[in-house]
Amino acid sequence: MTFTRTENSPFENSQVLAEDFIPEEVLGRDEELEQISEVLQQIVDNEQPVNAFIYGISGTGKTVSIKYKQRELEQALERYDDVHATFVYQNCESLSSSYQAAIAIANSYLENPEYDYLHEEINLARNQIPSSGLPKERVYDILFDIFDLLTYRHTEYRSQIETALQETTLDVTVSASELVSPGDDPSVSSDKRTEILEKLHSEFDIRPPEEVTDYVTVILDEVDRIGTRDELLYEIPRSRTNSRVDDILPSVIGISNDVGYKESIQSKTDSSLRLKEITFKKYDIDQLQEILSQRAEKAFKSEAYDGDIIPLASAFGRKQGGDARYAIDLLHKSGMKTKKDESTRVTEEHVRQAHEEKERDRVYEVTNDLSQQEKIVLAAIMYHDLREETPIARGEMYPTYKKYSQSTLDNSNVPRRVADYLKKMSQLGLLDRRDAYQGPGESGFEYSLDKVDYNMIFQILGDEEPTGEGGSLLPDELITEFKQQSSSGDTNTQTDFDSFD
Ligand SMILES: Nc1ncnc2c1ncn2[C@@H]1O[C@H](COP(=O)(O)OP(=O)(O)O)[C@@H](O)[C@H]1O
Ligand SMILES: [Mg+2]
Repeated sequence: MTFTRTENSPFENSQVLAEDFIPEEVLGRDEELEQISEVLQQIVDNEQPVNAFIYGISGTGKTVSIKYKQRELEQALERYDDVHATFVYQNCESLSSSYQAAIAIANSYLENPEYDYLHEEINLARNQIPSSGLPKERVYDILFDIFDLLTYRHTEYRSQIETALQETTLDVTVSASELVSPGDDPSVSSDKRTEILEKLHSEFDIRPPEEVTDYVTVILDEVDRIGTRDELLYEIPRSRTNSRVDDILPSVIGISNDVGYKESIQSKTDSSLRLKEITFKKYDIDQLQEILSQRAEKAFKSEAYDGDIIPLASAFGRKQGGDARYAIDLLHKSGMKTKKDESTRVTEEHVRQAHEEKERDRVYEVTNDLSQQEKIVLAAIMYHDLREETPIARGEMYPTYKKYSQSTLDNSNVPRRVADYLKKMSQLGLLDRRDAYQGPGESGFEYSLDKVDYNMIFQILGDEEPTGEGGSLLPDELITEFKQQSSSGDTNTQTDFDSFD
């Protein structure tokens, strides 16, 4: 088969559904954006920078908000030539320590031809720091040296001087580099240099670097991923006091998906460090609708989607914890399904299918690592769910678990271990856990199925390698119960249970 372009694709511009697309407007985040503005306003005002920490679960618009505000600030700063701001953005998602984050940031500059001057300035023979081997302090020294060189003098100013030298009527033979940052053995005297520069400043209306304040704002996104070895987070605000940098005013903006990370850093951060906290709340369904309408309008051709898909996708996004990333990806997958169907219009049905597929992927991903015992716990909860006995306490489901694990695995664990399994599965989002006991003393957690349908559980259990005689982890009783419920029309699942015969 050869490729031919899909006729009547529903997409006008699928690019706007990509994760890194920055929308023209960030909707429904007025309060949060305002708080970011307050932080960045210090730069506009040419005052002491403020450090910040942004918290909020995944998909609440943290990354897009900071990028949006960064862009806005950069545009605003075009009007003020006495401040120069550089944003250093690093996503720490795949990094495991501050050391690695420091290397990643340093390398992103050392590898960039735009910053070729760095090699000469910091005397680094190699243009890449190895991912291991160098002592930590050496890596930090390089990193802070780089920050200290991200100044107006070495960037905009340097290039303005370069251009000026080409266009000037002055008869000069010295290079821009030597004028901007003379080495140890300059070919022209310092007085001569000053004289040339002053002439260039006035001829080309160039702001001298002495009059410009340099800010370097380091954004450490998903910083919770670098774990508790988070020195970088406080080394940056301290770096000026510690004389690791001299020419810039450094600040840091940490971003974390893990709200619990707050406690772990607070204890270690000294109180002299000003960290403004900004919390991003989950999106409600109206906010998600607003965001999705904005995207759908650009992503799809007009008339190529039903209006109803927006509230539906928003509802799924809300169920997913108010996650805009999930909801936007749902639109993308729905469009792909429409295209595959050779249909020209995205409908609710496409959104439903896309949601199911995403859910399946997610559940498979998290259930992959479940032990057989844990899967049996899931089977027991499903059994009680079918009988409408959930939410259920551990003590009440334990006998069912014990029966199933004996029959399929010939082995069962003590209640305490089962409690651990239940807890883990609620953290993975397979079970919903709530504390039903309000009094003092022992807690009384109750569990129910969370966002996982029977179909999926059957697949999780049925895919298992045979260990006992049953050939799978599916207890007979569970299948029987399921068939009874299905035939009485009580269940809301469309599982074709004939396949279990
Ligand atoms: N308020 C918003 N307006 C428009 N798009 C948004 C908004 N919030 C999130 N998005 C989009 O949703 C996706 C996830 O947002 P992101 O900022 O990456 O979330 P987080 O960093 O909190 O996990 C991105 O594609 C982003 O463009
Ligand atoms: Mg993010």
